[in-house]
Amino acid sequence: MTSLDWWRTSAVYQVYIRSFADGNGDGTGDVEGLRSKLPYLADLGVDAIWINPWYPSPLLDGGYDVADYRDINPAFGTLVQAEHMITEAHELGIRILVDLVPNHCSWDHAWFTAALDAGPGSPERARFHFRDSLDGPPNNWQSVFGGPAWTQVDDGQWYLHLFDPSQPDLDWTHSEVREEFASILRFWLDRGADGFRVDVAHGMAKDPSYPDLADHVQILSSAKMPNHPHWDRDEVHDINRQWRAVLNEYDDRMMVAEAWVSEESLPKYLRSDEYHQSFSFDLLMAEWNAEAYRSTIAGVYDPANALGAASTWVLSNHDVMRHTTRFGLPADVSWRTWPVTGPVDALDSALGERRARAAALITLGLPGSSYIYQGEELGLPEVWELPWDVLDDPVARRSEGTQKGRDGCRVPIPWTSQGASYGFGDGDAWLPQPERFAAYAADQQIGVAGSFHSLYRDALRIRREHFTADAAMTWIDSDPGVLAYERGSGVRCVANMGSTPVPMPAGDVLLTSQPDLTDALPSDTAVWLWPT
Ligand code: NOJ
Repeated sequence: MTSLDWWRTSAVYQVYIRSFADGNGDGTGDVEGLRSKLPYLADLGVDAIWINPWYPSPLLDGGYDVADYRDINPAFGTLVQAEHMITEAHELGIRILVDLVPNHCSWDHAWFTAALDAGPGSPERARFHFRDSLDGPPNNWQSVFGGPAWTQVDDGQWYLHLFDPSQPDLDWTHSEVREEFASILRFWLDRGADGFRVDVAHGMAKDPSYPDLADHVQILSSAKMPNHPHWDRDEVHDINRQWRAVLNEYDDRMMVAEAWVSEESLPKYLRSDEYHQSFSFDLLMAEWNAEAYRSTIAGVYDPANALGAASTWVLSNHDVMRHTTRFGLPADVSWRTWPVTGPVDALDSALGERRARAAALITLGLPGSSYIYQGEELGLPEVWELPWDVLDDPVARRSEGTQKGRDGCRVPIPWTSQGASYGFGDGDAWLPQPERFAAYAADQQIGVAGSFHSLYRDALRIRREHFTADAAMTWIDSDPGVLAYERGSGVRCVANMGSTPVPMPAGDVLLTSQPDLTDALPSDTAVWLWPT
């Protein structure tokens, strides 16, 4: 493998910077906090870090509302600190992925304030989607966060925002928008970024006739509709190619798409002149059973492998309920709306943690990149009990009380079981941490046999030794309820996802998701082994 292929097998750790580590005691995570934890991440064994948006921003969507793409939010630090952090990460062998947010900016971005000042018909407005409309919004498009996707300004025009009103969509048919983003890519590549995670990679192109949508109820899943007026349009691929050409001017850089598109469409994003990889979120939706996992994994791996692209595996991120909690909910309960829709006592936390440990071995054993969301290696649960009045996420605001939104997975990390904000910083954290976080703190887990942290650390070490030489995998016929595959090296992962124990497969055990296994592989347990 050449170094050009680093991204094919990486374990990428996702840092939600606002909640990772607070270096200056103001209750908000920051670049210095992250820098102080680089040795922790190196010891854990990750290959790269993806940092959620760290730019100047009013933080009305957690930083995905970018006011300036070429600087660091003063609440998080300075550009100089970011440059030092990138250098130190590289010294530790950790690569850095920056979050690129091209579909929309913030209403505080200089282009948008200029557009408001300049008025209808101005060149400044042409960088956005401003429309005239006398009777309400120009069409029936809905914002992903709820409510109309159009907001009216004082002079009567409407602007498009597929997300929050504070996130005006850029018009990607405009040459200045394209040139600006090519320049932003170079700005971060010149500062040592190893690549980009690209936000809403399927959203930039819009049908210029802005037609009404026939069915706008399920905005996210409608992305899988053919010829959608604002998702996954063919014109997006020209943009992808332009960016890939910029990355190709540098050595060893990569980009990964956040593209919520159909299985048929995804391969187009992975063509050799487009993305290096795309997230697959299908495991987030898959039911906990061997059949569902097998078909979901095959649905991701087979097309990517056929194209020579790397698969990606994601169990959690900053947009979804943490999977230790998700796995503890009954299959018929929607994790997007729970606990609002209740019942609260439906949650079986112990079961969720057991499954999360097994899922770690299932996914970290697969070919491709694994994305690990901060705190996942500590087994952190969702803080679903956050009171409504502390919630910050626009989803909570705009869903009219039907969803608590994404704050529950963004609660600051507990580093120590004692102290203010459990070692996150010197004072209170920007979101309250529950008392149960003390038991999950990193200092309670590091070096402790059987802890989540030890499981992840061991798994990442063994993964590097035995799982990353090639992308080959074959399914092994097994009992119903059991998921089993073999990797190119001959090493196997066997997971009992059924409800009764099965015999322990024969072989030399490398790692198990539960301690002290002997003859049986209990339900919700996985093992890595060399078969004999
Ligand atoms: C996807 C990001 O992951 C999410 O956090 C954000 O709200 C939307 N894109 C809009 O940028």
